[in-house]
Amino acid sequence: MTDPLERLKALQGADLPVHGGRTLAYVYDSGDPEVDRIAREAVAAYAGSNALDPTAFPSLLQMENELVGFACGLLDAPDDAVGTVTSGGTESILLAVQGARDARPDVVRPRMVLPATAHAAFHKAAHYFGVEAVIVPVGPDFRADARAMADAIDEDTVLVVASAPSYAHGVVDPVTDIAAAAAARGVRCHVDACIGGWVLPYAARLGRAVPPWTFAVEGVTSISVDTHKYAYAPKGTSLLLHRDGSLRKPQFFASAAWPGYTMLNATTQSTRSGGPIAGTWAVVQHLGDNGYADLTGRAFAAVDAIVACVEREPALHLVVAPDSTLVTLATDETLDPFTLTDELVSRGWYVQPQLSYGDHGPSIHLSVSAGTLAHVQDLASALGESVVAAQAAGPVAVDAGVVAFIEALDPATLGDDDFDGLLAASGLVGASEQGDLELPTRMAEVNAMLDVASPAMREALLVAFLDRLQRPAFGARG
Ligand SMILES: Cc1ncc(COP(=O)(O)O)c(C=O)c1O
Repeated sequence: MTDPLERLKALQGADLPVHGGRTLAYVYDSGDPEVDRIAREAVAAYAGSNALDPTAFPSLLQMENELVGFACGLLDAPDDAVGTVTSGGTESILLAVQGARDARPDVVRPRMVLPATAHAAFHKAAHYFGVEAVIVPVGPDFRADARAMADAIDEDTVLVVASAPSYAHGVVDPVTDIAAAAAARGVRCHVDACIGGWVLPYAARLGRAVPPWTFAVEGVTSISVDTHKYAYAPKGTSLLLHRDGSLRKPQFFASAAWPGYTMLNATTQSTRSGGPIAGTWAVVQHLGDNGYADLTGRAFAAVDAIVACVEREPALHLVVAPDSTLVTLATDETLDPFTLTDELVSRGWYVQPQLSYGDHGPSIHLSVSAGTLAHVQDLASALGESVVAAQAAGPVAVDAGVVAFIEALDPATLGDDDFDGLLAASGLVGASEQGDLELPTRMAEVNAMLDVASPAMREALLVAFLDRLQRPAFGARG
């Protein structure tokens, strides 16, 4: 029988590397092996502990309170502020929306006002909690239009949202004006700082220009910040902070309506692994303010170097100058962005394609970490070579028959036969002898095909795809 740990190592070979600073989405690399060692050991030590009951595992309660305390200092929180450790950005956002809805039982049809660039987690929250998302177009600089958002607030509005920064474009919304408009109507204002919340405060301390967005801004009632992003903590933690305890109250859930223990939760989860909490606490203890200031300086030095190298490539440009550590690139008509992405991936640099949306064409997303700095020269070479190779290859064209096939489909009723038909028509995704889908290695053709589909069709096709991927496998039987 194979050693499961050996097998794990082999399986992991198929994944993107989480270290090495070359994976510019999904993971955040400090570049410091000591940070990883501490995180790994803390996760292992607490993998079996359960934060469900703080009286049974008081050490986890203490770690959570210390993490929230650290974040309060970072985010200019007032003395009355409180917070909760959640499992990730999406859960923090779900809870912010649920709490805002449940604080207003008088509103029959609750609505929340979102800039068009708000993270998809708010759409998930709208779907889960029956809160209508009122989407307000952003300005030409991709920042929320505060005046239009103010105009969109009505008596059914339970929440107004701003991003610091937005994921897709990496810019900070005008939080001061948005929060003031919300406060003037007595409405909660949530700042989604899931991706920027741990770097922007240090960037400001290092003297970079950071627009105001923390609790120092009047009217901001809650902030989400993900520790499993730029706190360089292991996956599985985010923080949701409220300006005071009364704002958090509706987030709590208790049920004594059954014969077992009284369920008492502050998050959507009940049993919660102690692993990510201990891992996050240990990393934050280890790095502290000085460590984070240093890592933030490195991440921004890498951003500056990447921006300079993009400016040297005539076929590339920044979609907008970054406010944070996220860089968004677009290409001119000589360079296909999806082919460029594949070329970079083939040279060991994972960058994330973003499909066309509204009036804007496709772009390429880079979440830049401290660990990238040591390799920026390599990235510059890879980018130069990838541009030449992608221009030589030319754009990927989607077959007219495939476009017609997609246009004839109805996303609301897309079934297995339609999906099979599309796979056959496009010839893009292979199937193994058992009929399992095989993941494509080059994605340009797949992305080009999705790019011509409507957002509703993209959703339907990707759900069908995921449904095919998630099928029982029997390898674990040994
Ligand atoms: C601004 C923003 N909000 C929310 C999220 C969702 O976070 P998670 O993937 O941890 O659920 C992200 C993730 O990148 C983000 O960038």
